[in-house]
Amino acid sequence: KMGRTSVPELRARKGKDPIVCLTAYTAPMAQRLDEHCDLLLVGDSLGMVVYGMESTLAVTVDMMVNHGKAVMRGSKNACVVVDLPFGSYQESKEQAFRTASHILAETGCAAVKLEGGAELAETIEFLTMRGVPVMAHIGLMPQQVNTMGGFKSQGRDEETARKTLADAKAVAKAGAFSVVVEGTVEPVARQITEAIDIPTIGIGASVACDGQVLVTEDILGLFSDFTPKFVKRYANLGDAVSEAVGQYADEVRTRQFPTDEHCFGLAKKGKLRAV
Ligand code: KIV
Ligand code: NA
Repeated sequence: KMGRTSVPELRARKGKDPIVCLTAYTAPMAQRLDEHCDLLLVGDSLGMVVYGMESTLAVTVDMMVNHGKAVMRGSKNACVVVDLPFGSYQESKEQAFRTASHILAETGCAAVKLEGGAELAETIEFLTMRGVPVMAHIGLMPQQVNTMGGFKSQGRDEETARKTLADAKAVAKAGAFSVVVEGTVEPVARQITEAIDIPTIGIGASVACDGQVLVTEDILGLFSDFTPKFVKRYANLGDAVSEAVGQYADEVRTRQFPTDEHCFGLAKKGKLRAV
């Protein structure tokens, strides 16, 4: 297949084979993920995972642009979607379009993602009608940490179940090409997936969704400040890093590294040998 997976191609995967998605923030990681993933998400989770911030709230548009560019350079097959960071789209649909068009133009990514349901429907429609494909993000919305009072799963009670379903219907009607459903109980995620005609991408939202997304560093064991229940760890690269770096440090301290094979112009019998 030539070129990247397109937004309409992803949209058409509704109800078919599951959509594989992971987060990516850097070129080398994007290169590794590209052959396995349909969609690479440059998530604002990079605030925590890459920059050590306590939430995603301080992530800037410039950060998203820079990492979006890196991920585009590192990949050639996957559809790349970039998160709109907190404060860059909630003020008005015009502000959202300005931010989104800037990110699309600067990075070459295919679409943006924003957190919000019914209250952002007008914005989603405004962007979609003007050439900016939008992936919505409902259920647990990390940018709402302060209004929600923490990270809480959604749909356990009648009120959040009803709200999450209504949000799903609103973003689909507004023209979102797909929707991330985060931290939502299985019956509600299932009901949403059956109720709307765009693919649902679940994160902590059960196997009922049309696709899955996780934070790459979480599944690789490269980020352990906080690991939600929905993360499955497929590797322990953090431990591998500690082991490798520990060995390097030992060898430097004991002058076992570097050896001749890592050196230029070794002195031999009083003369310098050419490389
Ligand atoms: O920022 C992010 O990484 C996300 C996904 C986990 C859905 O929004
Ligand atoms: Na995000």
